[in-house]
Amino acid sequence: MTTSRTVPFFNYPRAYLDDRDNLMKIFDDVGNRGAFIMQKDLRDFENSLATYTGAKYAVGVANATDGLELSWMALGLRSGDEVICCSHTMLATAASIRTAGGVPVPVELGYDGLIDPDAVEAAINPRTVGIMPTQLNGRTCNMDRIMSIAKKNHFFVVEDAAQALGSRFKGQHAGTFGNAAAISFFPAKVLGSLGDGGGVITNDAHVFDKVYQLHDHGRDIDGEVKSWGRNSRLDNLQAAILNHNLKSYDKVIARRRKIAGMYQERLGIMDELQLPQGPDANPDHFDIYQNYELQADRRDELKEHLRINGVGTLIQWGGKAVHQWEHLGFTVKLPAVERFFERCIMLPMNMFISDDDVNYICDQVISFYRR
Ligand SMILES: Cc1ncc(COP(=O)(O)O)c(C=O)c1O
Repeated sequence: MTTSRTVPFFNYPRAYLDDRDNLMKIFDDVGNRGAFIMQKDLRDFENSLATYTGAKYAVGVANATDGLELSWMALGLRSGDEVICCSHTMLATAASIRTAGGVPVPVELGYDGLIDPDAVEAAINPRTVGIMPTQLNGRTCNMDRIMSIAKKNHFFVVEDAAQALGSRFKGQHAGTFGNAAAISFFPAKVLGSLGDGGGVITNDAHVFDKVYQLHDHGRDIDGEVKSWGRNSRLDNLQAAILNHNLKSYDKVIARRRKIAGMYQERLGIMDELQLPQGPDANPDHFDIYQNYELQADRRDELKEHLRINGVGTLIQWGGKAVHQWEHLGFTVKLPAVERFFERCIMLPMNMFISDDDVNYICDQVISFYRR
């Protein structure tokens, strides 16, 4: 048993302090150039994002929520149009459908916590126009199933890839299957900035043009006003930081996959826990482990035991799935999601935890069930 220590769920100051020298150089460089809005760093980042994911186009936006909403607006979502999404997602997924004029229809999750394709099929009705899979916790859904349902029914697909940059299904990057996708660069994301940030990726020139106009006051890439729009630009300074962080991104993913493998090895034997799939469990999936979310017997007691012993944990979305925000108008009951939300918990998963930290966390989890 390792000696007592503190492992926060996520250490925000370290996102800055661990790389302070390089970040100061970036501030200085951007500041000296006065390159604050829509400058070369942003263009470079958009190009790198497209190249990295294999998408044809990328637009930096203020945050992923805006990116999702602008994607639906670009696709021409109309009032009353229904879009099927998973109930286990951030409220932002459903909100983007709603604020673009549509109606979010939350459905059940499958064995891996992601949207259940059978539930998608069951929710289709004459008002359905789209599917919005969330590539949750850094894992891409079985997009063969989702895309074949979409093709058969002529549905739009906007992927919520906020948590999934670099995640792949059958070798293809999250965000490149549907009509458009948005990625988040919130500081705790695997590719994080030092503030809010997001990106839209798409292979569709029309969607790109529309999202581009919508995010910059209706202006096209030549600065000419083509339509109504708003301001949802990604700051050039954040783009410069993201360019820097992208250079080490594959190493960051490799480290997270290693941590997931350690959790799997130490905790996989526990009958009281249901772990996410390990990094090498399924060759169709390349997971980047934005989160390490598991299901646990006596979840609340385990959380308290870990807290007392210095380990930070989090229950995603504040403990409620989308359809459980009943005052927002949801009436559906989803038993699998509801059961999941009685049992789910996330253990620390980030670049700041050492192998000793992971072993300490595992010791604490095991001692809770064996005491
Ligand atoms: C699944 C999911 N969708 C959407 C968002 C919203 O991203 P942003 O904070 O960049 O708007 C998040 C952010 O946590 C998320 O995890």
